[in-house]
Amino acid sequence: MTSKFAILDFGSQVTQLIARRLREFGVYSELFPFDVSLEKLKDFQPQGIILSGGAHSVYDENSPLRGVKELADIAPLFGICYGMQIITHSFGGKVEAALNREYGLNEVVWSDPFSQNLKTKLQNLDHQQNVWMSHGDIVKALPQGFEVVATSEGNHPAAIKSDRVWAVQFHPEVTHTDLGDEVLRSFVFDLCKAEANWTAPSIVETLLEKIKKQVGSEKVLLGLSGGVDSSVVAALLTKALGPDQVHCVFVDTGLLRKNEFTDVMKMYKDYGLNVKGADAADLFLSELAGISDPETKRKTIGRVFIETFEQSVKDLNLDCRFLAQGTLYPDVIESVNLRGSSVTIKSHHNVGGLPERMNMDLVEPLRELFKDEVRAIGKELGLPAEILGRHPFPGPGLAVRILGEITKEKLETLRDADDIFIKGLKEEGIYDDIWQAFVALLPVKSVGVQGDNRTYANACVLRAVSSSDGMTADWYDFSPKFLRKVSNRITNEVAGINRVVYDVTSKPPGTIEWE
Ligand code: XMP
Repeated sequence: MTSKFAILDFGSQVTQLIARRLREFGVYSELFPFDVSLEKLKDFQPQGIILSGGAHSVYDENSPLRGVKELADIAPLFGICYGMQIITHSFGGKVEAALNREYGLNEVVWSDPFSQNLKTKLQNLDHQQNVWMSHGDIVKALPQGFEVVATSEGNHPAAIKSDRVWAVQFHPEVTHTDLGDEVLRSFVFDLCKAEANWTAPSIVETLLEKIKKQVGSEKVLLGLSGGVDSSVVAALLTKALGPDQVHCVFVDTGLLRKNEFTDVMKMYKDYGLNVKGADAADLFLSELAGISDPETKRKTIGRVFIETFEQSVKDLNLDCRFLAQGTLYPDVIESVNLRGSSVTIKSHHNVGGLPERMNMDLVEPLRELFKDEVRAIGKELGLPAEILGRHPFPGPGLAVRILGEITKEKLETLRDADDIFIKGLKEEGIYDDIWQAFVALLPVKSVGVQGDNRTYANACVLRAVSSSDGMTADWYDFSPKFLRKVSNRITNEVAGINRVVYDVTSKPPGTIEWE
């Protein structure tokens, strides 16, 4: 049986990281609103329950409070920061505002680590652990049956325990805490005796069963984009149901990169997907004519995409009850209300509104997965590395990488320049170190000289960033030799570009895309 952990979200900015860490250990974990009902938790059958941090004091008027004692009857408890304070409060101890608040790095001294394994790891550090803290309240008096097993620099309780309950005042889930993983592991593996059985083969097996149960003998429709998520959804559905029940449509917006449509279509067909291409390049180009404003471009593309998708489904004359989407767990988490009252899911950027318009039920097999898990199961399913390792590509495609109005000529120029850059990264062996890289075509002309001739042509910008989630990013530090090589090739080989610049702006304040 799969070992499962429930994480109750009391509003910390880093709650998601707790779930990620457990998944990285190979243990299934799910986030719940802090006030999830006992029935729901019991149904989930957790092997342990983790109470997250949160910005409140247990004495605030609007603080997220709930009875915690009854949770310990369901499974062993582990509290983090606010989680430790609500445990103290609920079991009858005392929490109060500290005179000296503890923010940032702090050195904690352990007297009795949670488990033998943790003790062995801490021995190398002389039982002193650098941890990251962020709290204004402290545990002033322990509830009965609890003891302090680690103390902070300010001499406050940094870790406490009782029979079935353990808690830390610091954040083991953030990377600034040394041995943070070991603290979490001690709870998960040593105290709760979990098994690391959330592996790619077991995830695939679970998802295939779920899909079969949900879809039965009905037909499913799926819009493919060439990206990782929709490709993995297609592979999963096809494996679960067979190609006759799974109809994929790949729309050529004419805004894809060089040879992308034909290359990706071939990969999909070779893999055995039942996929139809819809060539709408001319339609997109004519609808986008004369539009320079980025948001108007996005809206136009969204509308034309939906119309094209609908039309191609009509042409195929299919009777599909289900529409599949590549929604991931971070999208779901983002939309879970802390108060647990309403759950609205972000709609997919390209097909927003489609399920309602087409009156279809949703299949979202990746809803519980993080991106790295999606890649791992894609590999397990035998999808080509070219698809799994691809940089993210925005729905509106090259339209937001041509600043200003879009024309066929500009698209061709940009495709050629982008292809040189991306091939250069692959030849250099650095493509996989970079989160996203591309060329954007600027609406700027400058004077140049080629041979004996004066030129007056466009400038383009190279953009390459490192990032872990696209929310923040830093520009990638290329060698001057690499930049020189790419710049020379672009200016020599691409007609219409006589100047190449490199973007050294992080996000924030910049965004990754230029539009
Ligand atoms: P920004 O430019 O906002 O991009 O820093 C963050 C990530 O989102 C992608 N992006 C989009 N993806 N539709 C999409 O599907 C869009 O309109 C869009 N705009 C930006 C961008 O490529 C990066 O990965």
